[in-house]
Amino acid sequence: MPGPIVIVGAGQAGVQIAESLRHEKYGGPITLLGAEAHGPYNRPPLSKKWLLERGSTASLAIRGLEVLARRKIDLHTHSTVTAIDRGARVVHCADGNKYEYGGLALATGARLRVLPVPGAGLRGVLGLRTLDDSQQIGAALDDCVATSKPLVVIGGGFIGLEVAATARKRGIAVTVLEGLDRLMSRVVAPIVSEAAARLHRSHGVELVFGARVTELVGSGGAVRAVRMADGREYPAGCVVVGIGVEPEDTLARAAGLECDRGIVVDEHSRSSDPEIVAAGDCCARRLPGGTLLRLESVQNAVEQGMSAAATLLGHTRPVKAAPWFWSDQYDARLQMVGLSQGYDEVVTRGDVAQFAFSAFYFRAGRLLAVDSLNHAHYHMLGRRLLDRGLSPTPAQAADENFNLQSLLAP
Ligand code: NAI
Repeated sequence: MPGPIVIVGAGQAGVQIAESLRHEKYGGPITLLGAEAHGPYNRPPLSKKWLLERGSTASLAIRGLEVLARRKIDLHTHSTVTAIDRGARVVHCADGNKYEYGGLALATGARLRVLPVPGAGLRGVLGLRTLDDSQQIGAALDDCVATSKPLVVIGGGFIGLEVAATARKRGIAVTVLEGLDRLMSRVVAPIVSEAAARLHRSHGVELVFGARVTELVGSGGAVRAVRMADGREYPAGCVVVGIGVEPEDTLARAAGLECDRGIVVDEHSRSSDPEIVAAGDCCARRLPGGTLLRLESVQNAVEQGMSAAATLLGHTRPVKAAPWFWSDQYDARLQMVGLSQGYDEVVTRGDVAQFAFSAFYFRAGRLLAVDSLNHAHYHMLGRRLLDRGLSPTPAQAADENFNLQSLLAP
């Protein structure tokens, strides 16, 4: 067993590492250092239900403070780690505190990409990553309601579309400015992007593709419009920028760990220093062929967190489950499993027009991924198939009369 274990980052991955250590019967000290004022909380509701209803912050907690205390997980909020001294096995915090470690885990997450245009610092230009961000956006949406001003969203990815749906539920006029030619293109196929575009338009959202934002225009220090390269201007009471995230690997990089847009880890969540593990959005996992895989999801934080804890204790628990994600927009639920990059064929099952279908992605006839819109049964089936390395043929996947469940029979 290593000596004291220090975990940098008190988000989903950090708290998972701590709890998995206890689950695996590690009885030594665990220190969980988080830069924010809050204990570990769930991020998914921040752009959805919580942004709409803004209940108590306690309702977002992944684990209550009393539970962490009972498990002897020593949480320090307001604790920003500024340096790792690998030689002395100490981490240093901005407040002057330092913590010696026998085992170190990095779960530093990701930071928002910043829009590189004039006016990005105006009041009312907001990004969404943290609970405080969500509170600010909620207050800005209150102002939009009170003043009948529109919301402009920059970026038609998950954050942008979920915030757009939430704002429409509150009756706010919404325009989404997407730089590329379709929605959520980082993850889903064109057929899913098209369904999402129809869904948002049916709820009254204006979608603009190929958008080139050149300036955010203000008056009195607050944003009042978004200016485009073609001269168009979109009036805005508030602007939400959701143009993606960058893995937070600054600390690891400064400590000399191998980083490549993320802390490079293996399937056991080990960094280039075998005594330091990392988990969650901050990581780039090297796959057997050498490619680096970056995943930004709760499931990945949980899986890598469990694997990182096992590695710290000298056990093995490689990360191997098929990655999955979800997004709620209006009353629609989009669920994705697997990685569709490199697909050469997509077939659908269900009713695309009625927003209840799945898209099955194949390469050379083998299933790579399944995206399901209001089609939860097929998402679950896709997870089981991919986890077991099973694949229907494209014809079977598309044939409503073929029982895909039969492929799972022993
Ligand atoms: P994203 O990568 O999903 O989408 C960013 C979008 O912005 C892309 O469509 C991109 O083409 C567009 N874009 C980039 N630069 C632009 C520009 N200058 N002008 C206009 N459009 C531009 O990232 P997003 O939505 O910001 O989400 C951030 C993180 O939060 C991701 O890790 C995401 O997976 C995660 N998240 C996950 C959710 C889920 O799983 N349900 C929900 C919300 C966020």
